[in-house]
Amino acid sequence: MSSPVIAAPAWTIPEFLEVKDRRLSINGTDALKLVQEFGSPLFVFSESRIRTNIDRLKHAAATVDRPIRFFYASKANSNMAILRTVLDSGIDVEVNSGGELFKALRIGFRPDQIIFNGTSKSNDELDEAVRAGIHAINVDSVFEIGLVEESVRRIATERGAAARPARVTLRLVPEIGTRSHLGLQTALLTSKFGISSSEVLDAFRRGLQNPDLINICGIHIHVGSQTPDVEPFTEAFRSMWEHLVTIHRETGHTLEHINLGGGIPVNYLRDNSQADQLPEHERDMLGADLEPSTVLTEALRVARQSARQKGAEQLLDRITILLEPGRSVIADAGLVLTTVLNMKQRPETGDVWLLTDAGYNLMLSMNNYKWYYHLISASRASEPHESEYKVAGPLCDSGDVYFDIERSGRLPDYRKLPANIQPGEILALLNCGAYSLAQMFPYNGRPLPAAIITREDGSFDLARRRDSYEDLLTGDIW
Ligand SMILES: Cc1ncc(COP(=O)(O)O)c(C=O)c1O
Repeated sequence: MSSPVIAAPAWTIPEFLEVKDRRLSINGTDALKLVQEFGSPLFVFSESRIRTNIDRLKHAAATVDRPIRFFYASKANSNMAILRTVLDSGIDVEVNSGGELFKALRIGFRPDQIIFNGTSKSNDELDEAVRAGIHAINVDSVFEIGLVEESVRRIATERGAAARPARVTLRLVPEIGTRSHLGLQTALLTSKFGISSSEVLDAFRRGLQNPDLINICGIHIHVGSQTPDVEPFTEAFRSMWEHLVTIHRETGHTLEHINLGGGIPVNYLRDNSQADQLPEHERDMLGADLEPSTVLTEALRVARQSARQKGAEQLLDRITILLEPGRSVIADAGLVLTTVLNMKQRPETGDVWLLTDAGYNLMLSMNNYKWYYHLISASRASEPHESEYKVAGPLCDSGDVYFDIERSGRLPDYRKLPANIQPGEILALLNCGAYSLAQMFPYNGRPLPAAIITREDGSFDLARRRDSYEDLLTGDIW
């Protein structure tokens, strides 16, 4: 008699996240074995999943007839092992600070593979970018154009040579809303980013005043992160395209590239067994399934239509499109393994509480945005996840819980896990590769955890060593 075929849980991803011997297996390695060897909590990243995500972007690029360049948004995760994987995958990098620029150069990105965003770049940071000669500095205000010019003059003096123009892109804020969290929307006039539409032409005129100091090479809009719909992308692309044509007509200057930013969403609800507890807009946003090829195809369709109407097809045929994907490269390639350290049952409410060693100091967005990370038992991955628990981290803060303490329903009140979970059991928070490791902090004197990267051949390497108590003293002077 053949044994019944049991469907794989919806969170599984073949050859990456699987159930083997009833436990969670990550690229063929037993999750519990990793915790035994490297301790808990533990970040685990998958090299093959990062490559798959990048291949998906490259395939999308192949579906359109303009050259596309991807600049990985390193703010999503700038661990050096992750940057090396991205570099080896053949795409470029976006940085948001002198520190990220330093890391990108150190890992081996060539300057012409780097672009630099930021609202508040210091003179030192601008000097570092100008000195390196990066592909583009994305300028965030008219004032900053002058700062870049001064930086170019400083570097020319430092070298005792003629100024070499810096490549500059203007970042616009065209008032485009998305259905993401407000804190993740960056193209609204109420946001702190960019140059508004009414200022654009003057900003370009200003940027073109000193061609010996700056070369205005592109235009940029990032509508925000986790953007569930294609429309904001097409609207942004149309806006940049139309500005590009106007600038050409008014000044004769031709821009080389249009930068559509990041924001391609990740489906955090591939396992949607708890999704019915989330409000509809949250479900739509977290469960978004927007293909990068759709974004590119639609953006170019709209631009091509406009180009025909304006008789400007020759301009469109000369541009390169840049994208700055972060989340879509790394989010579902990372997870956190955490141990249940304590439990209690409240007689008054009947709630069973599980207290883990992974707090919001590891995943700030769990607290900031009440971001949903699907939770499973790594120890008993094959068992039905139908028992309800209140789950919380270890921090001395009532907000360090895996539900929405403010009761606005942005997270499920209870997490569903196998029956009778006991201390010592290993749980896994899935899809937490983006904006986690890069934002973690040692609150409550908690040494930061280790991170592992699993390799395509089934081996794994340490990507970050666990901090010691001594590391907690780094920088303190007494
Ligand atoms: C300018 C810019 N580009 C790219 C990104 C990456 O966005 P995502 O991680 O959603 O792809 C961000 C992050 O919000 C950003 O601010």
